[in-house]
Amino acid sequence: MSVVGSPGAARGPGAAGGSAPHEAHPAGNLAVAARGLTRVYEVRRGVLRKPGRLQAVGGISFAIEAGRTLAVVGESGCGKSTLARVVAMIKPPSAGELLLGGVDAVHAAPTERRKLRKTAQMVFQNPYGSLNPRKRIGAILEAPLEINPTLDAAARSERARAMLAKVGLRPEHYERYPHMFSGGQRQRIAIARALMLEPALVVADEPVSALDVSVQAQVLNLMADLQRDLGLAYLFISHDLAVVRYLAHEVLVMYLGLALEQGAKERIFARPLHPYTQALLASTPGLAGTPRLQRIVLKGELPSPLDPPQGCVFSTRCPHAIARCRDERPSPRLLDERLVACHLAENFLESGHTADRNPGLRSSQPSL
Ligand SMILES: Nc1ncnc2c1ncn2[C@@H]1O[C@H](COP(=O)(O)OP(=O)(O)O)[C@@H](O)[C@H]1O
Ligand code: SF4
Ligand SMILES: [Mg+2]
Repeated sequence: MSVVGSPGAARGPGAAGGSAPHEAHPAGNLAVAARGLTRVYEVRRGVLRKPGRLQAVGGISFAIEAGRTLAVVGESGCGKSTLARVVAMIKPPSAGELLLGGVDAVHAAPTERRKLRKTAQMVFQNPYGSLNPRKRIGAILEAPLEINPTLDAAARSERARAMLAKVGLRPEHYERYPHMFSGGQRQRIAIARALMLEPALVVADEPVSALDVSVQAQVLNLMADLQRDLGLAYLFISHDLAVVRYLAHEVLVMYLGLALEQGAKERIFARPLHPYTQALLASTPGLAGTPRLQRIVLKGELPSPLDPPQGCVFSTRCPHAIARCRDERPSPRLLDERLVACHLAENFLESGHTADRNPGLRSSQPSL
């Protein structure tokens, strides 16, 4: 991923990030690029009041190359699913640019849109709800191929069976129904279905959050293997930093629709510069190898996105907030090879209280 911060910026602070086992694919092949992506909802607040304007996604920019993963993290309600749906072309953005494989997905004509939709496929959190219980797995996998008139039934079946093997399922599973599978197997089926149209980008919205921890590791390993073999780009949504640490190359920390910190995973886990990132990391148990962080307890609730704080959106919960924070919204700026939106970020860098120069972050297995 590179952070697309300003017009013409092809690569950003995250470009140098990344690590095995995802390195086999050539750089410079952008599966997706977003600039200033915004999604606003009109929300009714009773008969007498004017509808409110809820900015679920407030100008998010990123790019993901083939074979790379951008993880989006943040608390529930911060706009992750909305961003996922906009990138997968399920919802249109209210503003901003979205390029899929270099093609403008926002202004594309209907025929072009249909083609582009195939290039970005989604995997949802709930493997129970996302599979039609009345259809056999074979039929579920073949359904996306029916739009292709050059493939007859035998060819579709052959592709579905090959995909079953790719996601670690057995040939006899082709004839079975979704209820006959465990949660982890169903998520394998959902991943298989997403891959049937050979997308360049998979948008996965909390794909392992509903699974047992031991099964999470298996599904994450499968996703890493498929990425390596097929050169897939992932937009990976999760509230769980342990999961993110395993799969991500780049991380985007989101709060009330905005990116507060964004860059290479190693940088952010070793030395989080935004107080919100620090709080998220400090509150995630079992992140071996991360720096000892001053414990920041997140005070209070997430503010209403209908009435976000005027200055820094995190100022109502930030233990470091000063007067300036409440008046002036910090713009994201480049510091220590990542983007960070905090007036005081230099202080955290200089004080080094989050620093760990030998974080040893990478492990070959997810430690969840
Ligand atoms: N269809 C919708 N209409 C109005 N508000 C919505 C809609 N979908 C999401 N929201 C609001 O947008 C914000 C972000 O939601 P969401 O993208 O689901 O966040 P997350 O996935 O991080 O939990 C929330 O305040 C949510 O209530
Ligand atoms: S700008 Fe101020 S309130 Fe916002 S995160 Fe930084 S220190 Fe905290
Ligand atoms: Mg969500």
